[in-house]
Amino acid sequence: MRIAFFDTKEYDRESFLRAAEGMALQFTFFDARLSADTVRLCEGYDAVCAFVNDTLDAAVLERLYAFGIRVVALRCAGFNNVDVRYAYGKVHVLRVPAYSPYAVAEHAMAMLLTSIRRIHKAYNRTREFNFSLEGLTGFDLHGKTVGILGTGKIGRVFAEICKGFGMEVLAYDPFPAADSGLAYVSLPELFSRSDILSLHCPLTEETRHVIDGPAIAQMKKGVVLLNTSRGALVDAKALLEGIKSRQIGAACLDVYEEETDIFFEDNSGHILEDDVLARLITMPNVLVTSHQAFLTREALDNIARTTVNNLLNFAKDGKCLNELCYRCGKSEECRKQRQEKCF
Ligand code: NAI
Repeated sequence: MRIAFFDTKEYDRESFLRAAEGMALQFTFFDARLSADTVRLCEGYDAVCAFVNDTLDAAVLERLYAFGIRVVALRCAGFNNVDVRYAYGKVHVLRVPAYSPYAVAEHAMAMLLTSIRRIHKAYNRTREFNFSLEGLTGFDLHGKTVGILGTGKIGRVFAEICKGFGMEVLAYDPFPAADSGLAYVSLPELFSRSDILSLHCPLTEETRHVIDGPAIAQMKKGVVLLNTSRGALVDAKALLEGIKSRQIGAACLDVYEEETDIFFEDNSGHILEDDVLARLITMPNVLVTSHQAFLTREALDNIARTTVNNLLNFAKDGKCLNELCYRCGKSEECRKQRQEKCF
C-alpha cells in the first residue's frame, strides 16, 4: 500500500518508520498540508494519512475518490476537519481514538501551573539575573473549583490530576460517565462556580463558540480558562474582550480558532496577520502553545502503531474498528456496532 502523508515533521517520520518496519507499507512524506491546492499530490497513491490541520472537505474528498483513493487514515483523534457525511459511501475514514489522554491532560496542568505561578515570567527574569519577586504572586490550586467541559478520556484524566491537587471537580457532559464518580452540573452552573474552566469536548456544530461573550459573562470574575481541545470552542474575539475587561483572569491556549495557517510552523521572521492572536500573545496573563499537548514520545509511538494497524486491518478485510462515519454512536444506525462494514 502506497500512502501519502501530509503535514509531516521529523518526529512523525521517525515514529512511523519505526512502527511500519517490515510491513508492506510504502510512505511518502509531504511537508505540505492537504488542501484543494495540494490534493493533486495524492494521484497514484492508495491511501492518505492526514493530521489535524489538513482539509478533508467535500472538494478534497471528491478528488481523492476520483484518484481511486478509498481510505484516509487520520493520525489524530479529532475529526472536525473531515466532512464525514460527504465521505460516507466513498472514502473510509480511520482515526486514532486514543493515544495518550495523559499527554494532553498533563499538558493542560503544565499550562495551568505555569500561568498561575508565573513560571514563564520567572524563567525569563532569572536568565537575566533579575531575581525580583515583584508581580509573581500566584494562588493555591488546593481548595479551588475546576470545571471540566467534556468528561471523555482526556477530561477524566485531567479530573484525576486535579483531585490530586486537592481541588473540587465539577463537570458538564451531555453524556455523563456513570462510573466516573464526578459531580455533574448544568452548563450555567459550571460557568458560574468554576475558578478554573478546562475544555475537553470535541468541536461540533453544537460546541462551536461554546465559550462566547454571554458564556464569559456568566463566569466568575478572574476565571482561568484552559483550552487544549479545539480552538473554535472559544470565540477568540470574545476571549480578548473578556481579558481586557478583567473578567478572565488568565487563559492557557494550546489551540486557536484560526491556527491552521500559523501553528506548527516557524513564523518568527514573518509579520503575524492575525491581530486577535497577536494581541492575545501580548497579554501577560495569556499563555499560548502551538497545539503541542499531544507531543510526547509515548503518544507519537501509539499514534504511529495504531495508524499502521488501522491501515493493515483495512487492507486485509475492508473493516477497521477505528473507522468513523456520520452514523457513529447512533446505536440503531451504526453498522460497526453490529460488526459490519460501515459501507
Ligand atoms: P472523548 O471522545 O473521549 O471525549 C469527549 C467528551 O466530550 C465525551 O464524553 C462527549 O460526551 C463530550 N461531549 C460531546 N459533546 C459535548 C458538549 N456539547 N459539551 C460537553 N461535552 C461534550 O475525547 P478525548 O480523547 O477526551 O478528546 C477530547 C478532545 O481533545 C478531542 O475532541 C480533541 O479535539 C482534543 N484533543 C486535543 C489534542 C491536542 O494536542 N491539543 C490531542 C488530542 C485530542
